[in-house]
Amino acid sequence: MNPLLSSLQPYPFERLKQLFSTVTPNPAYAPISLGIGEPRHATPQLVLDALTKATAHLAAYPATAGLPALRESCVNWMQRRYSLKLDAATQVLPVNGSREALFAFAQTVIDPTRDAVVVCPNPFYQIYEGAALLAGAQTYYAPSDPALNFNVNWDSVPADVWAKTQLLFVCSPGNPTGAVMPLSDWEKLFSLSDKYGFVIASDECYSEIYFREEAPLGGLEAAAKLGRADFKNLVAFTSLSKRSNVPGMRSGFVAGDANILKQFLLYRTYHGSAMSGMVQAASIAAWDDEAHVVANREQYRQKFAAVTPLLEAVMDVRLPDAGFYLWAAVPGGDDVAFARDLLAQYNVTVLPGSYLARDAQGFNPGAGRIRMALVAETAECLEAAQRIVAFIQKNHS
Ligand SMILES: Cc1ncc(COP(=O)(O)O)c(C=O)c1O
Repeated sequence: MNPLLSSLQPYPFERLKQLFSTVTPNPAYAPISLGIGEPRHATPQLVLDALTKATAHLAAYPATAGLPALRESCVNWMQRRYSLKLDAATQVLPVNGSREALFAFAQTVIDPTRDAVVVCPNPFYQIYEGAALLAGAQTYYAPSDPALNFNVNWDSVPADVWAKTQLLFVCSPGNPTGAVMPLSDWEKLFSLSDKYGFVIASDECYSEIYFREEAPLGGLEAAAKLGRADFKNLVAFTSLSKRSNVPGMRSGFVAGDANILKQFLLYRTYHGSAMSGMVQAASIAAWDDEAHVVANREQYRQKFAAVTPLLEAVMDVRLPDAGFYLWAAVPGGDDVAFARDLLAQYNVTVLPGSYLARDAQGFNPGAGRIRMALVAETAECLEAAQRIVAFIQKNHS
């Protein structure tokens, strides 16, 4: 067996299952889960129609590079969304959702024979860690800083860590914090990447769900603004899962440095990760349409506008820049006990923040917080919020 498998940590939902195994939820309430970050708004009809019309694709093996028409749709979307002109032949590649791509990317870029370090934000999307460990790298966790709108203070990473860094994961908009990274941070990271030679993987799968007027800055957009037209050492990961409510379709794409994408395509060819032709046809329909994305964003905006003020009255929480999570500090400071007792008393599931982060530099930056995924319909999220308010009033006032 690959010995690195034993270095993998239990997934947060495994730990939650363990925590809840001794809890009997109050049967007076129907269960509501704000735990899993899985989109639950309706899948657009135009995507379903395109999928069912494309069954002829099943008769042939798809190419790993994807259909030229899909690559065109991806670059056209990047042009509309970020005013970027990408080359469809060399600067984009379809992937089966960003999760597998983030994992496979680490296997492609890491050279484990050279004492490799992968820098991750903390808390973080758990795939970064597994991807780094299975690629034979060590991880360095850079804490999210509440004083910086939950962005990472990149200056806090020591020079000897940067010197060994081969890959940096950036998550903007962040899961679980919802923070969008500003241009000044991108500028800092590009100069560090130039100095130390590491690759930046920019995970942007929440980019289309946002609450400010201005759409979140993308990694490639930041590079272009700073005159880095070749996107050297930068690859962005995007996805239809949240944008178009198709988490089960497994579709996204990567874009950026053509030299890296050439190697990534080579890796993926052997790994056998070509996207089904049916999914490619449905993806073209999804990337080409923006009306459903605007409507989806509006649905989240109304939901967050209704739910956030209720919770703000009893806990330290605010509307995030983007994403579909609330990242709240719990009264009393014990996120694990809060999640356990909330389930027991009011049958609402939330995720303890400490499960999404690691102890590093002497503390766990997720401790004392919970993540609430507002993915259900507004009425259900409102009901959950009302129960949380009652729970806090009963136990913490
Ligand atoms: C930060 C982040 N990145 C990537 C993903 C993977 O999404 P998908 O594989 O559906 O594109 C998720 C899913 O929840 C996520 O939260």
